[in-house]
Amino acid sequence: MSEPEIKDPILRTEYLCKHFGGLQATHEVSLSFERGKVHGILGPNGAGKTTLINLLSGELIPSSGKIFFKEYDITAATPDKVSRIGIGRSFQKTNIFPQFTCFQNCWVGAQSRLPSSMRFFRPARHLREVHRRTDRALELCGLSARRNTPAAAMSYGEQRQLELGMMLATEPELLLLDEPLAGMGSEESAQMTALLRELAREHTLILVEHDMDAVFALADRLTVMVEGAELETGPVEQIRNSQAVQEAYLGDSEEAA
Ligand SMILES: Nc1ncnc2c1ncn2[C@@H]1O[C@H](COP(=O)(O)OP(=O)(O)OP(=O)(O)O)[C@@H](O)[C@H]1O
Ligand SMILES: [Mg+2]
Repeated sequence: MSEPEIKDPILRTEYLCKHFGGLQATHEVSLSFERGKVHGILGPNGAGKTTLINLLSGELIPSSGKIFFKEYDITAATPDKVSRIGIGRSFQKTNIFPQFTCFQNCWVGAQSRLPSSMRFFRPARHLREVHRRTDRALELCGLSARRNTPAAAMSYGEQRQLELGMMLATEPELLLLDEPLAGMGSEESAQMTALLRELAREHTLILVEHDMDAVFALADRLTVMVEGAELETGPVEQIRNSQAVQEAYLGDSEEAA
């Protein structure tokens, strides 16, 4: 069951399918994501959430179906192309360089995605631009004060913030976030939730997360996936009160109470 179409979505999928052999990891998923909003994706383990994120980010090529970012068809785009076009992603597991400082980690992100037009500028100008993006990313992920600290010396929560920083250094418009709160204690979760709320002011977020409190607090709209398919999409209150969702997913969890 879907809501009416969103006008001018920043990202949209049409009947997106990904099969692994006989397994349908995502099945005919057609979703529209509204610019500037937080769209949460919920679903039990194995529902196809990470597969969907991997399809959107170019890590996986769909078996069938289409993906559009703004007016561009990015169905067959590589991760590099997807990143350059303005879509950043975080991984379910931490993906940073432990021996590098925060500054160096973000520098890697900034450097990797500088538009090819920058290559024609003088090296000094190129470096200034990378530096600017790195500083901005550190500020956005809340780690300016930790710029010279090696990633390995920081807490798990800070490492996940740094991972966001690496992504932000690519200056994305849309962030694909796969379980940014995974493995965090309550204090770290609260800090990350506040950070995501801050990022949502200037970005579109697609947020896969098992932490219901955080998703309900952050999201404007929610999609629930079950066995690869979209079960229901709608505003948070609709999903919270949905009989179908409660039966299929929330029914067993105390958060549904
Ligand atoms: N590369 C792969 N090869 C084969 N099967 C896969 C592959 N990736 C995912 N799957 C399968 O596809 C289904 C969906 O997996 P996916 O990782 O997308 O689920 P998820 O909703 O992200 O689950 P979780 O909440 O546990 O992270 C699962 O049955 C999984 O085993
Ligand atoms: Mg997953």
